[in-house]
Amino acid sequence: MTDRPSFDAHLAAVQAPDGLKTVLEVLAQTCAEISDLVAGGALSGVLGASGAVNVQDEEQKKLDVIANDILTDALLASPVVAGVGSEEMDVTQPAAHATGEYLVMFDPLDGSSNIDINAPVGTIFSVLKGFSPTPTEADFLQPGRRQVAAGYALYGAQTMLVLTTGAGVTGFTLAADGSWVLTHPDIRIPADTKEFAINMSNQRHWAGGVQRYIAACLEGADGPRGKNFNMRWVAAMVADVHRILMRGGVFLYPWDRREPEKAGKLRLMYEGNPMAFLVEQAGGKATLDGVASILDVVPERLHQRIPVALGSANEVDQIAAA
Ligand code: F6P
Repeated sequence: MTDRPSFDAHLAAVQAPDGLKTVLEVLAQTCAEISDLVAGGALSGVLGASGAVNVQDEEQKKLDVIANDILTDALLASPVVAGVGSEEMDVTQPAAHATGEYLVMFDPLDGSSNIDINAPVGTIFSVLKGFSPTPTEADFLQPGRRQVAAGYALYGAQTMLVLTTGAGVTGFTLAADGSWVLTHPDIRIPADTKEFAINMSNQRHWAGGVQRYIAACLEGADGPRGKNFNMRWVAAMVADVHRILMRGGVFLYPWDRREPEKAGKLRLMYEGNPMAFLVEQAGGKATLDGVASILDVVPERLHQRIPVALGSANEVDQIAAA
């Protein structure tokens, strides 16, 4: 047995408005539900394609749709939620009631190409304060700096929930009885690292700075960095960022030349912003290009894309200097 605090006990001690705590309880509960479905795999009947594509023109998996429905229904049923936005929905949805204060955006199942191969996937979420109980999309378009909470659930070898409300980062593990237990009370990212994460198959398309940074890492102890690097790529941002929160590293998904009009692959509102909030709260840096913070981007569109370079602070500075 353990004397570790439960999620509820931890939340009771957090300095945050009751409404925000309710939002986090709903998210924790729904992520536990989604974890069950992910763990059941073929036995839950959730594997494979849904037959539809989302607003980004990506094939939706059955589990993308199921996770999206579970989150949307649970959040909109909560009296404190004013509206939701999701990677899997073209437009934002206001709640039917007019009592809510909070706006929640999410990627219901990040890394969904991992679902059918039993590799890690996760749910990423971002919480903002709304201006109106019947919000339109414009209400959601606030810079990441204004987030009041953010986090993710990682459905991996263990299911974990990692959260910030702006006072550090805490991690919980899902116990066999379905409850969340505080296991990682103060997550900090080491400032230095010898590990990078990038999809190397895109190398020829990158801009000069990223080419130079990665080339120097690959030269290892024989090159200007004077140390050997290791590479990891889970192909689910949620798992790559989790590794960085646990032991340091950098993660890049940079702009590339294939579609120059697109700023990057990852989405600002429900991938970049929540991960940037967590990374900065854990002492790391979360930037577009090694310098400009993701959290300062003024959003123009719900499904806006951005380049991402985040992780161990000193290593992100090396990306900027390359
Ligand atoms: O949401 C996009 C995403 O699945 C991220 O989770 C992940 O980091 C990335 O795409 C993987 O991209 P690629 O298919 O290029 O490996």
